[in-house]
Amino acid sequence: MAGSAAPHVLIFPFPAQGHVTPMLSLAEILSLSGLRITFLNTEHIHRRLLRHSPALSRLARRRNNFRFLTIPDGLPEDDPRLSDVEFAKVQDSMKTSSRDQYKEMLTQEIDGWPPVTCVVADGTLHLANEVADEVGVPTLVFRTSSPCSCWVYQSLPTLLHDGVIPFPEECDMDEMVRGVEGMEGIVRRRDLPSFMRLAKSADDHDIKLISTINAHAISGKGFILNSFEALDPTLLSIMRSYYPTIYTVGPLHLHVKSFISNYNEEEEEEEEEVDNYKSGSNSTSLWQEDRTCMTWLDDQRDKSVVYVSFGSVAVVSREQLNEFWQGLVNSGHRFLWAVRRDMVVSQGEEMMNDMAAAEELEKGTKERGCMVDWAPQEEVLAHPAVGCFLTHSGWNSTLEGLVAGVPMICWPFFADQLINSRFTSEVWRIGVDMKDRCDRITVERMVREVMEGEGALRLRSSAAKMGELARKSVEEGGTSRADLESLVRYIKSTGS
Ligand code: UDX
Repeated sequence: MAGSAAPHVLIFPFPAQGHVTPMLSLAEILSLSGLRITFLNTEHIHRRLLRHSPALSRLARRRNNFRFLTIPDGLPEDDPRLSDVEFAKVQDSMKTSSRDQYKEMLTQEIDGWPPVTCVVADGTLHLANEVADEVGVPTLVFRTSSPCSCWVYQSLPTLLHDGVIPFPEECDMDEMVRGVEGMEGIVRRRDLPSFMRLAKSADDHDIKLISTINAHAISGKGFILNSFEALDPTLLSIMRSYYPTIYTVGPLHLHVKSFISNYNEEEEEEEEEVDNYKSGSNSTSLWQEDRTCMTWLDDQRDKSVVYVSFGSVAVVSREQLNEFWQGLVNSGHRFLWAVRRDMVVSQGEEMMNDMAAAEELEKGTKERGCMVDWAPQEEVLAHPAVGCFLTHSGWNSTLEGLVAGVPMICWPFFADQLINSRFTSEVWRIGVDMKDRCDRITVERMVREVMEGEGALRLRSSAAKMGELARKSVEEGGTSRADLESLVRYIKSTGS
C-alpha cells in the first residue's frame, strides 16, 4: 500500500481520556503540517467529546484534510467502561466488535478519501496494531505514557528472568531493583508499575498484556513518545538502541499551541481559532468542565492554592477521601479539588452525605477551598494562584504540571503512575512522592513541604527550569520540533 497514494494517516487511540487527549493534539499538529488525517474514535468516546469538547467541533470544521470516523466498542451503552479500571474488558470487546470495520477502513476508500498509507496506533490498543500489521499498512506506535514507564515495561523479560517479578513474599518494598538499565539506584520495588507489583506468576493476564504491549512497541516503523529530550536524555539514549526510530514530540499540549500560533503567522484567517485556543476553549475533555473554579482562583493570592486532581480513572474510598480532606484542611492552605462523580468507589454522587464528617467537610471546604466535578486543568495549573499540584501522576497531568512549573505531590494510583511519581521526586526533583500512604498527617506534612519554606522554593525553581526546557523543545529548532519534522517526513514517504 505504501507508495501508492497521497499520504493519509489514520490515528487510533485507546478509548480513554489520557490517550485521546495527546493523540488528538498530535493529529491536529500533523493536519496543520499538511497531512491528511483520519481520527478513529469509539462511538462512546466520540459522543462524549461532541458533548463536552469545543476543540472537537473546531477540528472537524477547520480543515478539509481532517475527519473523524467512529467504531463501536461492543459494550452496552450504560457500561461504566473505564471507571472500574477494566482495560482488558474494553480491549477484548473491541477485538470482536470493531475488527471488521477497522480492517475495512484500512483497506478501502471511504467517502472518497484516498486509502490509508500509515497508521499511528496507540501502543496499548492491540486491535489497532494487529490489524494494521495484518493488512501491511506501516504502523507508528504511540505510547501515551512516560519514557521511564515504557522502559520499565520493556525490561519485563529481565525482571522475570532475574526473579524480581513476581515479588517474593514479605519482601522489602524499599529495596532497589536491578535489571532496568539506566535506573540503577533509582527504582525500588514499590516504584514498579502496579501490574508488576501484583503479578503472581509469569503467566498472569497482566504480565501477558505487558508482553504484548512491548511487542507492539518494537514492531512498528517508529515509536512516538509524548515527552522531550531534555527530560530524560540518558534514558532516551539507552532506549534508542532498542526501539525503532524514537520520535519524542512532546509535551504535545504545549506543542500544539506553539504550532498553531506559528501557523497563524502565515495564515491570518486562522486568527479567530488561535484566539479560541488561547482563551481555553480547546478542551478535549470527556467530562463537562466546571469553569466556576477559575473565578474562585482569581480571588486567591499568588501561589497560595493546592490543586488536587486524580485524573480520569483513579478511584478512592470514602476513608481515603476523608484523609486527603483532613490533611488539606490541617495544612492551613486553600485548595481546589476536582472530584469526579464516579471517583469515590463506594458512594458515587452521594459521597458528601455519606461521609462521617459530612457537615464539617462541606463547611470546611467552603471556608478553605473549592470543589468541582471536573476542572479545566491546563488553565488551572497555569493560574498564578496555584502553588502546588496534588496529583495521581498520570503522564498527561505530570507533563501539564511540569510545563506550568508547578511542584507536585504525587499519590500514584496504578500502572505507570508509580514510576512517574518516583521520577518526579528523585530524578527531576520537581515534587515529592507519597505513594502507598494516605493519611492526614502525611498529606499535611507534604503540603507544607511543597508550599512553605526553603524546600518549596527549591522545588519551585526546579519546576520552573523544567518548564522552560519543555517550552524550548517545542520551539523552532527545539528537539521535539525536530523530531516532529522527521516524523512528518516519514509519514509523507508512505505516500507517493
Ligand atoms: C491514564 C493513566 O492513568 C495514565 O497513567 C496514563 O499515563 C494515561 O492514561 P488518566 O488517569 O486519564 O491517565 O490521567 P492523565 O494521563 O493525567 O490524564 C488526565 C487528563 O485529564 C489530563 O489531560 C488532565 O488535564 C485532564 N483533566 C483531569 C481535566 O481536564 N480536568 C480534571 O478535572 C481532571
